[in-house]
Amino acid sequence: MIKPLRKAVLPVAGLGTRFLPATKAMAKEMLPVVDKPLIQYAIEEARAAGIEQFCMVTGRGKTALVEHFDIAYELEATLKERGKTDALRELRSNHLPPGSITTVRQQEPLGLGHAIWCARAFIGDDPFAILLPDDLVLSDTPCTKQLADAYYETGGCVVAVTEVPREQTNRYGILDIGHDDGRLVEVRGLVEKPKPEDAPSNLSIIGRYVLMPQVIEFLSRMERGAGNEVQLTDAMAKLIGLVPFHGLRYEGRRFDCGDKVGFLEAQIAFALKRPDLAPAVRAFLRTYAGEMAG
Ligand code: G1P
Repeated sequence: MIKPLRKAVLPVAGLGTRFLPATKAMAKEMLPVVDKPLIQYAIEEARAAGIEQFCMVTGRGKTALVEHFDIAYELEATLKERGKTDALRELRSNHLPPGSITTVRQQEPLGLGHAIWCARAFIGDDPFAILLPDDLVLSDTPCTKQLADAYYETGGCVVAVTEVPREQTNRYGILDIGHDDGRLVEVRGLVEKPKPEDAPSNLSIIGRYVLMPQVIEFLSRMERGAGNEVQLTDAMAKLIGLVPFHGLRYEGRRFDCGDKVGFLEAQIAFALKRPDLAPAVRAFLRTYAGEMAG
């Protein structure tokens, strides 16, 4: 029986050193793309896939992430008083049913696998999604919804994958591929950040997963992998053969918002999708930006 997917874990304990000084006193997941923080994109994407319960794995200095999903009474009252109905509607659409967000702390930066293990009590015996908020996907169907649909087809684990240039395999979890129908690929093996010459393919995992709770057993062993961190990829690899395991070539474009160029690209791409902003942004790109780029 395929259990319904209702839970998501959002690892948000990272220090955001690549975005200093912006992230000195602010969580990197609060950085906005156009006018919405990264964390809100992730939660909205998960909700669009039918997910109802969220666990943020946080750390010091991350309270704004929780605040962001709370009701801001004074702000709402002021907006109402001033007749700012659009802003009020937008703010209210961000409300979650009471009790849907929980947080756990990852006290030490021991890796993504360790962060997920910190959420073990939340996960219990249920399948769960993981969304890394740094990875932003622009697509017609939200990426996690695409993964959830694939999960209801195949059961087991499903990870979102995309081809990367060979020389970049050392930045990602990489698949060893079995049967491949062009959309769903059977996962035969997984390697975290292999050198290009050691990579079994150039199909990389992006920050979207649907996993089975058994992964926690393997994470509990706290085996260190690449970068001397507890790697999620290594624990996932141990599930191959125990549960169905597929990669899904999702439809859409991924932006690495943990990287400055990726973050800037996301701003432009998301602004061009907004009818209220697109004409002005397009005009800027055609004129000033074009001239500057030479
Ligand atoms: C993590 C995972 C990696 C995955 C990547 C996707 O790496 O360990 O397998 O491909 O996210 O963004 P990180 O970006 O945290 O180094």
